Amino acid sequence: MESGCWVIVGGAFGDEGKGKIISYLALKKDPSLAVRGGVGPNAGHTLVHNGATLKLRMLPCAVVNEKTQLLLGAGVLVDPEVFLKEIEVTNSRSRTRLDRNCAVIEKKHIQLDQEGHLKDVVGTTGTGTGPANSDRVLRVGKLARDDERLQDYLDNVSFTINSALDRHELVLVEGTQGALLSLFHGDYPYVTSKDVSASGICSDIGIGPKRVNEVLVVFKSYTTRVGSGPLEGELTPDETKKRGWQEYGSVTGRLRRAAPFNYNLARASVTLNSATQIGLTKLDSIYPEASGERDFDRLPSKAKEFVLEMEAELSTPVVYIGTGPDAEDIIERKVDSRKW
Ligand code: IMP
Ligand code: MG
Repeated sequence: MESGCWVIVGGAFGDEGKGKIISYLALKKDPSLAVRGGVGPNAGHTLVHNGATLKLRMLPCAVVNEKTQLLLGAGVLVDPEVFLKEIEVTNSRSRTRLDRNCAVIEKKHIQLDQEGHLKDVVGTTGTGTGPANSDRVLRVGKLARDDERLQDYLDNVSFTINSALDRHELVLVEGTQGALLSLFHGDYPYVTSKDVSASGICSDIGIGPKRVNEVLVVFKSYTTRVGSGPLEGELTPDETKKRGWQEYGSVTGRLRRAAPFNYNLARASVTLNSATQIGLTKLDSIYPEASGERDFDRLPSKAKEFVLEMEAELSTPVVYIGTGPDAEDIIERKVDSRKW
């Protein structure tokens, strides 16, 4: 039985496939709690389980395991409409709670996020998160504890998680966005409105640094970015399509910009997050013969070399490898603790 606190974060600009890795972990490791940190409903996580596709913007992706309790940390911004809708769609009312101090996104925040500087320069998702965080910092924001729609769901999330960790349970901590979109550590102003590195996610949910046992940083086999900001090696839309890397934003529907995997960015992200493990998704998108494979030894040799090169370049074990859309299309490798 696994236990302790596992933090899962995106290694690049979001859309690395965290949802898929987290849903696999939820199904295989049976966490008692899953808690979401990060910004808010600007995130879109897509998961496929038992043939059904689920798109989530507010709930933890561990929702696929019915035994897991679902929490939103105090740092997260809540859009009550999106939150309540997702609870209904996933039938998870009895096991979902949010922190009393989560701040609430109001209609005016969404409006402000869809015009002017935020739309034209930053290219935000338009979901109201930046303006809601701004009001929060100005100490004029509305909190979950004051919103009548959320009264049945209130909790002290920091206390709940720390108590579960005291009992040696397994807690999954889910980050959103990607570390390179961090307000502090990314390319300002082409960043989101919070720190979304592993440390920021821990702060969102209310655990101290000594609580963390694993930091799993998720990379996709190529890089994508939506919105403005630099992307080294950016491909033309035609070339992106030719390689089969064409993706559309799950929140905004925008075509994602794409580039090959970038070791310099990945190395910086491994350091920033103090990664102990790597999850690598969409290996099948660069090696189609790897599609659906769940056994590392049966991968084509070029795909194996890619994984081993990544481990060597990043000095971190690649433990989970995604080979297809289903939550269980994953190769899980044993970590050789003598090597790392
Ligand atoms: P905001 O977070 O909506 O303010 O947008 C700021 C920047 O972060 C924009 O470039 C967005 O496209 C990007 N962004 C925010 N959340 C995500 C995400 O979950 N995936 C990918 N990009 C995101
Ligand atoms: Mg996404």
